[in-house]
Amino acid sequence: MTIQFNDETFRDDYTFRNSEWAIRRFPFPFHEDSYMYSVNMERHRGGPEGSVYEKRFDVDEHYISEMRDRAQVLADDPLRCQSLPHMTLAGWDLLELIMVSKSEDYPDLFELHRDGATWRWVNKPLGIDDTFTFMDESSLPYGPMEYITRQTQGDFAVLDQRENNLWMDAGMVTTQADWSLDFDIGMNFFEWHAPVPMAHEMGVFKRALKFLLNVQQGSPARRLNWTMTVNPLLDTSPENYHKWGIQKTMLTPENVGRKQHLRVELQTFFRLPRSNALVFPIRCYLIALEDLVTVPKWGRRLHRVIRDLPEELATYKGFIDNRPMILDYLSQYDDGQTTSPGI
Ligand code: HEM
Repeated sequence: MTIQFNDETFRDDYTFRNSEWAIRRFPFPFHEDSYMYSVNMERHRGGPEGSVYEKRFDVDEHYISEMRDRAQVLADDPLRCQSLPHMTLAGWDLLELIMVSKSEDYPDLFELHRDGATWRWVNKPLGIDDTFTFMDESSLPYGPMEYITRQTQGDFAVLDQRENNLWMDAGMVTTQADWSLDFDIGMNFFEWHAPVPMAHEMGVFKRALKFLLNVQQGSPARRLNWTMTVNPLLDTSPENYHKWGIQKTMLTPENVGRKQHLRVELQTFFRLPRSNALVFPIRCYLIALEDLVTVPKWGRRLHRVIRDLPEELATYKGFIDNRPMILDYLSQYDDGQTTSPGI
C-alpha cells in the first residue's frame, strides 16, 4: 500500500496521532495476562503482510515527522550520535544493510543504484538524491552511520564483539526510554544493563548474551520490550528529564486516556558482514490508551498486566505513581472474561 505520511509533532503541541491502520498494526506485546522479563527472542524472518514485522526496517506514517524530530534532537545535542574510531567500518556495513533492505522492501520509496564503489541513493519521502563513493567518508555529509540513521526510524546501538562480550561503541539514540548513549558509550552488555531490576538474578542477561554472540549474518533476531510514556514523546532521555519528567505529574482522570501511551519497542539484531559488529535497531511505537482500548482484548489484557506487574518493574519503568490512575481507567475495559494465550 502507499503510505500517507503524517505531519505531526512529538513535543510541545503533540499533534502525533495513529491512524486506524497504525492502530490495527500496533505491536501489542503481551501474549498472556501477566508479564515478567524473559529471554523473549525469536528469528526476525518477516511476518504477516502489513504487520510491523513484515519488512526488515518498518516504514510507517510517522516516518517524515520522526526524522524531523531526530534532526531537532541532534541540533540541540550532537552527543546523541557517537561512533568510536574503530566503528566506522560497522557504519558502512549498516548503511549498506539499510539501503539494500529499504530499496528492496519499499521500491516505490527508496532506490539504490550501484556501479562499483559509486552509489546513488534516492530517498523519495525525504527528498534526498545523493551520489557517493562507498567506503569514502568524505563523499557523504556525515559519517556513514549518522547519514543513514538520520533517514531511518528507531534508535541504533552498534555493538563491537570481542572478549565474548558486546561493547556499545557506536549509536544513534534520540528516541530512548530513559537511558543515555553518552553515559553508556564504551560499556559492555552487563554494564549497560546494570540498572535493570530482577533480570540479572533470573539469569536473563547471561542467556541473552549467549544468544546474541551467535547471531549469524542473514539470520536476524527480534524481541519486544515495553514501557509507559505520558504524552507521545519520542525523546524521553535522561538528558531531557527536566523537560518531560514533570509531565508525568500532569495526568488526571480526565486526560489519562489521551495522554498516557503504551510505548513498545521492536528490537532487532543483525550481524554485520565486514566488521562482525552487531547492530541493534530499537524501533519505538506509541499508542494512546484511548486508542488501545478500541481493541477489546488489548484493553482487558493491559489492565491485568499493569495491575499485577511487580512493584520493582513498575518503579523501573517509571509509572508507579500513576499506576492507580491508569488502572482506574483501564478497569472500565476489563469485563472479567477469561482470555486465551496469544495476541
Ligand atoms: C534495558 C540496551 C539486548 C533485556 C536496556 C537498557 C539498555 C539496553 C540501554 C536500559 C538500561 C538502563 O536502565 O539504563 C540493550 C542493547 C542490546 C540489548 C544495546 C543489544 C545488544 C537485550 C536483550 C535482552 C534485553 C537481548 C533480552 C532479554 C533488557 C531488559 C531491559 C533492558 C529486560 C529492561 C527494560 C524495561 O523494563 O523497560 N537494554 N539491550 N536487552 N534490556 Fe537490553
